[in-house]
Formats: sequence, structure tokens, C-alpha cells
Amino acid sequence: MLYQLLSYGVLCLLLSNLTSAVQVNYNSSFTPDHLAYLRNETKSLFNHAWQSYMQHGFPADEVTPISCQPYGPDFNDINNAVRNDALGNVSSTILDNLDTLIIMEQWEELEYVLSYLKSQQATFFEQDTVVQVFELTIRSLGGLLSAHLLLTDVTNLPARYSKFNQICQEYDGFLLSMAYDLGLRLIPSYKTTTNIPVPRINLARGLRRVPPALQRDACTSGATTPVLEFTLLSRLTGDLQFEYYTQLTFWKLWSSKSNLHLLPMSIDPLANHWKDAITGVGASIDSFYEYTVKAAVLFNDDYMWSVFKTSYQALLTHSAQGGGPNDGSMIFSNVNTEDGSVFGDWIDSLGAFWPGLQVLAGQLTDAIKTHAVYLKIWNYFDSIPERWVYYHNEEVQKEVKSEDSVALEWYPLRPEFIESTYYLYRATRDPMYLQIGERVMILLRDRYKTLCGFSGLQDVRTGERQDRMETFVMGETLKYLYLLFDTKDEVFLHDTKVMGNKNWIFSTEAHPLWLNRKIDLFNISKGSVAYRDENVSSKAFSAKFASQITKSNNELAHFPKSPFLKNMTVARRADIPIPGNINDNILKRDPHGSRFDMCELNPWTKSPRGFLESGYYTWDRFFNGDYLFRRSLMKPKYIVDKGSFDGSNVELTLAFYDKFTMGEKKGEYHLQCPVPANTICYEVMWGDIKQCNQIEISEMHYNPKGENFPYMVPGDLWMPEIKGLKILIEELEEGKVDSRNTVITKEFIASLQSNDTVESDTILRINRVNGVYLKSNSVIWTLPFPITKQDEGLIGVNSDLRVVIQGRVVENLMVWYG
Ligand SMILES: *[C@@H]1O[C@H](CO)[C@@H](O)[C@H](O)[C@H]1NC(C)=O
Ligand SMILES: *[C@@H]1O[C@H](CO)[C@@H](O)[C@H](O)[C@H]1NC(C)=O
Ligand SMILES: *[C@@H]1O[C@H](CO)[C@@H](O)[C@H](O)[C@H]1NC(C)=O
Ligand SMILES: *[C@@H]1O[C@H](CO)[C@@H](O)[C@H](O)[C@H]1NC(C)=O
Ligand SMILES: *[C@@H]1O[C@H](CO)[C@@H](O)[C@H](O)[C@H]1NC(C)=O
Ligand SMILES: *[C@@H]1O[C@H](CO)[C@@H](O)[C@H](O)[C@H]1NC(C)=O
Ligand SMILES: *[C@@H]1O[C@H](CO)[C@@H](O)[C@H](O)[C@H]1NC(C)=O
Repeated sequence: MLYQLLSYGVLCLLLSNLTSAVQVNYNSSFTPDHLAYLRNETKSLFNHAWQSYMQHGFPADEVTPISCQPYGPDFNDINNAVRNDALGNVSSTILDNLDTLIIMEQWEELEYVLSYLKSQQATFFEQDTVVQVFELTIRSLGGLLSAHLLLTDVTNLPARYSKFNQICQEYDGFLLSMAYDLGLRLIPSYKTTTNIPVPRINLARGLRRVPPALQRDACTSGATTPVLEFTLLSRLTGDLQFEYYTQLTFWKLWSSKSNLHLLPMSIDPLANHWKDAITGVGASIDSFYEYTVKAAVLFNDDYMWSVFKTSYQALLTHSAQGGGPNDGSMIFSNVNTEDGSVFGDWIDSLGAFWPGLQVLAGQLTDAIKTHAVYLKIWNYFDSIPERWVYYHNEEVQKEVKSEDSVALEWYPLRPEFIESTYYLYRATRDPMYLQIGERVMILLRDRYKTLCGFSGLQDVRTGERQDRMETFVMGETLKYLYLLFDTKDEVFLHDTKVMGNKNWIFSTEAHPLWLNRKIDLFNISKGSVAYRDENVSSKAFSAKFASQITKSNNELAHFPKSPFLKNMTVARRADIPIPGNINDNILKRDPHGSRFDMCELNPWTKSPRGFLESGYYTWDRFFNGDYLFRRSLMKPKYIVDKGSFDGSNVELTLAFYDKFTMGEKKGEYHLQCPVPANTICYEVMWGDIKQCNQIEISEMHYNPKGENFPYMVPGDLWMPEIKGLKILIEELEEGKVDSRNTVITKEFIASLQSNDTVESDTILRINRVNGVYLKSNSVIWTLPFPITKQDEGLIGVNSDLRVVIQGRVVENLMVWYG
């Protein structure tokens, strides 16, 4: 009805005129007025996109934002997977945005599309289109399940939701029937002889109508992610097959992880093997990790949580760059799953979701540092290129332009950066994240808005546009932005009286999902054991999956060769008494353990002045990223234009700085980074890296003998065997500045030399071992180790009990003669 009466052309023009006419300048105040303005602006942007779709796109999947045409699958070319994967001729924009309409309180629109879907439900998914199972699961199935839950299981709503209550009263559950119908059409993709799903299916005709060439390349995300929506579908419908098949796949893939506890990203489901040995946290694997955490919350599933913990530790060991106590940024690079070596020097735009997940998993400091990298990229491009190169070897390439760091050049208005910003705001309540959100909102309004929606960039370097608006622009980018500005928790999702006891999560497509135990038709913990049976992974299966072995680097292979000075002798210093069994003296704990036991609180120090202050400026490493990426991201302009804040970088907006630092107090705010370290750091593999998950690394936790037993103190690490280690080493040379921001002196170096070694002008320090960062002044203790013929002269122990490698004393690795 509604859509026949209104004249949309006029409305669109009116809307764009209105928004560009509104020029309210709140100067970063974030007062209630300002935030109401930001919410209202965001809602207007959503309405602009929605109305454009309803007038020019509906009932196709999408609307093209520049040319104002309906956009759906390529019916002429079944092999055009890039286009067809997410487009099934199923009004995807609607299915992906039912819950967005509810969050934005668009009741008339909601009523209209509900009645439309209800009238079409019998044949809605009867489409002769080949779609990707993953995309349809997260966008359409997830959207339907979320809307069903929102319409059936939300109570205690505030009075202004009366219209919504009425819609709920009239709702008869048909969305769940539609979800079931869609689930039945998708699940055959999982019923393969290998239990690894093929990636695509024809919605009306099943597997047989899919060209075989489209089925050879699946990704880990694609195969494992549906486990969450499908398990929920089983619990809500009582049909167990969705849960069974997707869980089977999930655990089968997990059981074929590498020795380093890493999963590759690319699978041939028909040949039943991994297609490569590369992993990371971005495209093709992102939502695998995401759903281990979210499934753990949603289904109260400890197995899923343990998969996350294991994965996160493995990533800290092999993939994390930076992130130590003295680093201002953190990058999770792609690595080889068999030997842990870094593969490639780029990160994905999709990886910008990772800080949000880190927040959810309680890794707040890591999240802040990972997000900071994407902020620097956003500062430069006002967008994030699909793939960005973070490392430029100065020896190979003297001059680097920012353009050189763009490895894939498009930006389709992806939500991940704003999603993480939302999570970080919820966890820290730091106004800097609102400032970032406002900047994103203004760009959407003033740059990316078009006649019929929003169009992203085909090329971030040239500004060339895309005539495409994916369903996630409304369903995620604008949704997270809107929720970011809901600082007073007025949207029902943030209201603990409404949602407080639900253990709800946002799906990877930003659909709120939860499972009410009362409507859980299976209460199924007993059933869940079946697919975790180790016998599920047959020997043949595991063997094939483990076949991608590359030779691991052994035995100090990464050490730069330097002339060996003198043979080491093993001696014990006379003044240290034999302490006996370590276990009698010291309490140990898993150094990673405490990381996952509780959520980390806001790490930023708050001054007693308290409110109206941004922690950003109290963090002395915040601008290190600018130094780190100076070779490609040549902004900020303040380097050129000294002392002025020109607003070109979000964190350098003068109005924000003035308000949220309450004027600069000497030494309290860090607008300059510490002197950058110029020591050399490198990673070394010690022993067979495949054994890295078998050796013990414990943290000294409590010393019951106190001062009578001073040799080990809390914070020291106990690492009885030296094998299977990945160690981050820093070379300390006289005159250099180390990563703790101290200048290395001659006296310091001399103090570490013992009388039985030839003096070297370099000391080594271990900063990280298998993903565990050492605290300043902490020591790693190990047991005496056999020195093989091969290592003779390379390694030894001096009379101070410090390990010496190639004549260089390791400051913090000591041998324990118990
Ligand atoms: C909300 O935004 C619309 C469209 O930009 C505008 O017409 C309206 O006045 C705004 N309302 C408030 C309260 O700011
Ligand atoms: C914002 O700041 C500028 C300059 O600092 C000032 O001219 C302007 O009046 C301010 N606007 C508001 C709404 O406070
Ligand atoms: C796409 O779906 C619509 C219904 O929404 C239907 O009328 C149309 O025939 C479908 N297009 C094709 C080519 O199947
Ligand atoms: C599931 O278990 C909960 C309590 O654990 C119970 O209240 C609920 O009725 C059960 N649901 C069904 C469908 O049996
Ligand atoms: C695996 O199968 C064997 C033989 O059927 C059985 O003895 C064993 O208990 C099974 N393992 C597990 C973990 O169930
Ligand atoms: C180191 O010791 C080995 C035997 O222990 C000896 O063969 C070798 O010559 C020594 N190297 C040096 C440089 O003294
Ligand atoms: C080195 O010093 C230790 C104790 O400080 C002493 O016992 C030992 O004899 C010294 N060794 C040499 C070679 O001077």
C-alpha cells in the first residue's frame, strides 16, 4: 500500500537536500544533543538507503546506488560466482534488514515487508539460482532467525515500543517456517561423502544444477561458519540434521588442524584436502574464530571456547606482530600453518572485525592495538582498501608511496572497522570512538551517499565509484554506527531489563541471535557429544589433510651468522645453593591462562578528574603507529605543518583534543611518541617448531618461601625444555635505544659479561616466547640442556648461569641447576 502512494523520486531528492543542508557543528562535544543529532543523522541515512531500495530495487536483491536499478543474480551466466554468490533473487536487502528496521524503529516499513514476505512465503526460495551457502546462511537465514526471535521473545519493552508490541502480537511464526524452508534447501551441500560441504547450491534444484568447477574451492569460514545459524535452526525447529551436519564439519576440520594448532583457509571439498597451508585472521577464515566465541556464548559451549583459546594462543605465537607491552600497534599477519613462518606482508580490510572479537573475548589491550592500525589506514584513505601492505623493505624499495601499499584497491563500505569501533566504545566508553564514528558518519553522508543509496569505492587511490550497495551497508555499517551513538542504552538491545538475561550475540552479519532455554527444543548437550568423537576423523581423512607439509626451520637457523668467539663452558656459580625441586618452591600457572579467565578492564589510566577525558592521549605509544607506517602513510600533516591540528586525522581534531584532555598538563598527554627503538629484533625458531604445543611454559605465580628464596620471582617463566620455541629476540648494542625506551649503556653491557666469556659488545634479550611476552626484569628459567655436536660453540652457559649464544649473553635466559 504505502509504496504505491508515495512518490519516491521526490522523496529521495528531498532527503539528500535536507541532509546536506543541515550543518550543525557540535565541535566534538558529545553532549546528549550532539548524540541525538548523530543518531538522527544515521537514521536518516538508513532511511535514504531503504527508501531507495524499496522504490528502485524491490523485490530484487539490491538496488544500484548510482544508476537506481534493481540488482540481482546474473541470470545469463551461472558461472558468474562473484556476482551470484550473495544474490539469490530472494530480496536479500529485506531479509538482511528485518532486524535493522526493528532497531531503527521503522514500524510501517516493517509491517509492509512482513506482509509481503508472508504472502510470498510458499515459493519465496523456489529460485533457480546458484548461491553460496555461506552467504545465504549469514545474510538470509540469520536475518530470518533474528527477526523471528525479536518478534517472539522480547518482553519488558519500554512504552514507546507499543507499535512493535502490536506487530509481535500479530506475528504467527512464519519467518521460522521460511528459515526452515531455506535451511532444507541449503543443507544438502553438507551431505557429501567427505562431510566437507561444497560451497554452492541451486536453491530450487539442489546440488545437481551447480557446475562442478564452482565446487572445488571452499574456504574455512564458508565451511565452518554456518554451524551457528544451523545449530540454532535445529534447536528452534526440532529438526536435528542442521546441527548434526554442520557440527560434524566443524569438528572434523578442527581435528585436522596443523601441529601448530592452525587451520589453513582453503579447501577442496571433493578431493578432501586443504588446498594450501596459509592462515591468518582475515578473508576466508575470519568468522571461523568469530563463531567459536559466539557459539560458546550462545550455546554455553565450552568446547567452542576452548577452540578459540587454542587458536588465539597459536596466533599469538606465530602470527602476531607487535602487541607487546611496549608496542602501540598489533598486526596479525598471514602465516604458514606448518612452520609458522610469515606469509605475505599484507592485511585484509575484513580483518578489521578482529578487534571487535578481541573485545568480546576479553582481550581488550590487544583489541585497542589492533584497531589502532586500521585507524591509521582510515586516517589516510577515509576508507580501508581491501588489502593493504604493512611492510616495505627499505633495502628493496627506497621510496614508497601510499598507493604502493594498496594491494587490492576497492572499498565497498564494509562494516568491520565501525563494528570494532562500536565494541571498543562499549568496552572503554572512551569518547575517541565516538569521534571516529562521527567521522565515518560524515563521510557516509557527504561523500558516499548517492541518489539511490550509498556507493563505495572501486579504487581508493582514484576515488572511482562502485555502482553497488551490498546488503551489509544498511545491515551492518549503518546499524553499528547507529548503535555506537546509543550511549544511553535507549535502543532495546542495550537495555538490560529487556536483553539482560539472553546471552545474545551479533551474528557475523550483525543479526542479534540468542537461544531461550525454554524454547530450546532439544536442550541438547547430550546430542552434542557425537560429532566431537575423535573417531569422526578417520585416519585417511587426517592423513590427507595433514599432507601439506613444508620443511620446518630447525636449530637456530634464523640466527644471523657472526664469528664465534670462544667455546662456552657450563659452570654453576658458587654462591647459588642447589634449590632442589622447583615444584617444592614455586607455584606455577599457565601464562596464557589468566588471559582467558576474565575480561580485561579498560587499560587506560583515568585521571582523578575523571569524566570528559579520552584515554587515548594518556597512552604513550599511541602515535607509534604513525612512525611505524611512515613509509607509506605519509600523513599526518602535522609533521609538515608543525603544531597545528588540521583535523585530517581523527585523533588530531582540535575541538576534540581541547575538550577531552581538559587542556594539556605537562607530561600527562602524549602527542609525541617515545623515541623509536633502533635495536634489531628478529624471530628465531629454536628446535622443532612442531613440538611447540608439547612443551611446558609456566609463569611463576607465587613464591611461598619469599625472601629466603629470591632466585625466582613472580612473573618469571619456567620453561624446562628448550625445543619447539618461537622466540622474539632483541639485540642490545651500546648507544641504541631499546624497545623499553632506554638507551643501552656500556656499563649495562659490561654488567652482564661474566669472567669466563670473551666480551661482546652486544647483549641479547628475549621479548616473547611462544606468544608470551616477558615483563621487564622477568627471567626465563630452563633446565640444563644437552649441547649437540652441531650446536657446539654456538650455545653454552656462562658462570652467571646465563645462556650464551654465539658469544652473546642472553640477558634473561638462565639455567636452573636443581
Ligand atoms: C532528523 O533528521 C531529519 C533529516 O535530516 C531532519 O529533518 C530532522 O529535523 C532531524 N530531527 C532532529 C530532531 O534533529
Ligand atoms: C566550533 O568551533 C569553532 C572554532 O573553534 C567556532 O567558530 C564555532 O562557533 C564552534 N561551534 C559550536 C557549535 O560550538
Ligand atoms: C525473481 O524473483 C521474482 C519474485 O520476487 C520473480 O517474479 C522472478 O520471476 C524471478 N526472476 C527469475 C529470473 O527467476
Ligand atoms: C529445557 O530446559 C529448561 C531448564 O533447563 C526447561 O525449563 C525447559 O522447559 C526445557 N525445554 C524443553 C523444550 O524441554
Ligand atoms: C573410537 O572407536 C573405538 C572402536 O570403535 C572405541 O573403542 C573408542 O572408544 C572410540 N573412541 C572414542 C573417543 O569414543
Ligand atoms: C671447542 O671445543 C671443541 C671440543 O670441545 C674443540 O674441538 C674446538 O676446537 C673448540 N673450539 C674453539 C674455537 O676453541
Ligand atoms: C669467575 O668468577 C667466579 C666467581 O665470581 C670465580 O669463582 C671463578 O674462579 C672466576 N673464573 C675465572 C676464570 O676467573
